[in-house]
Amino acid sequence: MCGIFGCVLNDGSPAAPLIHSSLKKLEYRGYDSVGIATLSDGKIFIKKDQGKIDEVDKILNLDDMPGSIGIGHTRWATHGAPLKVNSHPHTDCTGEIVVVHNGIIENFLELKSELQNLGHEFVSKTDTEVMPHLIEENMKRNPQLSLEQAVLESLKRVEGSYAFAIISTREPDKIICARNESPLVLGVNHKGVFCASDIPAFLDVTNKAVMINNGELVILDASGYRIKKISDGTAVTREPITVEWTAEMAVKQGYPHFMIKEIHEQPEVLRNTLRIQDHYLDLLSTFLDRANEVFFVACGTSYHACLAASYMFSKLSFLPTFPVYGSEFVEQCGKSVSIDTTMLAVSQSGETADTIAAVTCAQQRAATVLSLTNVIGSTMTRISRVYIGTQAGPEIGVAATKTFTSQLSVLAQLALKLSKKRGKISQDEIDCLEESLQKLPDKVETIVKTQEEKVKQIAKKYANAKVFFFLGRGISTATAYEARLKLMEIAYIPSIAFPAGESKHGPISLIENGFPVVFICPRDETHKTIIGNIMEMKARGAHIIAVVEEGDVDIKSLADDYIEVPKGIPSILSPIAYIVPLQLLAYFVALERSLNPDMPRNLAKSVTVK
Ligand code: AGP
Ligand code: GLU
Repeated sequence: MCGIFGCVLNDGSPAAPLIHSSLKKLEYRGYDSVGIATLSDGKIFIKKDQGKIDEVDKILNLDDMPGSIGIGHTRWATHGAPLKVNSHPHTDCTGEIVVVHNGIIENFLELKSELQNLGHEFVSKTDTEVMPHLIEENMKRNPQLSLEQAVLESLKRVEGSYAFAIISTREPDKIICARNESPLVLGVNHKGVFCASDIPAFLDVTNKAVMINNGELVILDASGYRIKKISDGTAVTREPITVEWTAEMAVKQGYPHFMIKEIHEQPEVLRNTLRIQDHYLDLLSTFLDRANEVFFVACGTSYHACLAASYMFSKLSFLPTFPVYGSEFVEQCGKSVSIDTTMLAVSQSGETADTIAAVTCAQQRAATVLSLTNVIGSTMTRISRVYIGTQAGPEIGVAATKTFTSQLSVLAQLALKLSKKRGKISQDEIDCLEESLQKLPDKVETIVKTQEEKVKQIAKKYANAKVFFFLGRGISTATAYEARLKLMEIAYIPSIAFPAGESKHGPISLIENGFPVVFICPRDETHKTIIGNIMEMKARGAHIIAVVEEGDVDIKSLADDYIEVPKGIPSILSPIAYIVPLQLLAYFVALERSLNPDMPRNLAKSVTVK
């Protein structure tokens, strides 16, 4: 899940400063090491080291490199520790062929030993390093081969996922890129051509983008770009599209962190989700209506959206659905998938390897694959029968926030659409839910405006807790799981989440005096029962932090601390509102613990490895 960037500038300006600034915009994809290689006067220049871009830049001055052609990389290690020697770019024995890579070469051990037997010397522990040596070997065996042909020959031997960007002194006027599974996109303008893992990398330079598909190779030079099929070298014609995202959308806009900026963006994002064309909702709900069985497949936060959606579809459309983790799908359900199966895959990035693997399995067994993603042009959008975008704009914080609530909003609209089709609930109920959906962005805005200060104080009080509990009933179970993931991933506090009714079946034995337990308590059909669960916890000395509906005196009187959410939010939509103060809680607890919430250790935004 590294970030790669490359550029060929045709006005003679230096490539390194642009590569440096573009890598900064990709830092959410990987940040344990950074490296840049440029080409000038037929020579290669490389600067690389472990550490975040700014740290490495302070020592190496990344902007100060000659040449108008270059490639760069921000790494999230998969093979070999985050060390200078493992940082990309990697070279062949002669230092003439230089490669950056996002992905995993699955057969690298076999290739490495074959190449070592032929005399190639490896310096790193990475899988990536086999690629420059393979190209070198192919060119050695057949000196007639062009760089492009040698890359194509080498790719025939490579198994696994990759987005490669390759430069060489042997043909110093170009970059060659290739893609299989890992994302790759081009940018073009009058000054040159760019290749990157993701659009924000070049968005302040150009909004003209060309999506590259799996199995394609690209040649970038001063004349522009040429796309070819890796399988047989045939040319592919593809015109650029205009990306509507502005460059400002991808920067912090005055907030100290992307995460808090993205939490604050939620009212606007929710308004955008209500602008989704009815046609798409209609199309997706038609597929769901025909389905005999529906799997919702996703990872992490997107899985929690699926869990909430399973309550929505059951209650509104009377459609039973099965939420399954992407990483477990093949083992758990693979064999039972058939032509009668419908899968709705949910992924913010549209690139999560575990979710893509589940989709691929479903497709191989002739299932219908639908998807919901935030990144149009991502792998997910290309491999699904029908997809809907979540309209959340780029999310940079590693912790998903606005994309979670936007997923929920789209899924709720979809459940409602299906409900109408099936005639399962009354028109009054539908009208009431539609009206509530329209009002939700304002309610979320109220939460952010009125509760932020209060949440900050609660965060101060509990920032040193050793462990947290999150409990909810019904659809709030999904909210509890998501709140727990947020706190764990950015504040590093071990946390436990359960349906509140389950706690008495085991987890309650953990409770000790002063132990913080967060209850999610919308005023719905679970309200009375959850009061009982609160009492059970209080009796054992727990400190109760309740997220309640405004004016809920019953629960407020039981809680040590409470956060209020506006009235009039139907249960089915409650996760969209009730998660917001808990996102804030995780954020402020992380700050209290002097942690950077945008870059939690060991995590990356886009998990493109299995
Ligand atoms: C969310 O805060 C996490 N960083 C992570 O669990 C994420 O939701 C998961 O990796 C799935 O990503 P996706 O939605 O892009 O597929
Ligand atoms: N496998 C390469 C490495 O470990 C790239 C990692 C990635 O794309 O996540 O350096």
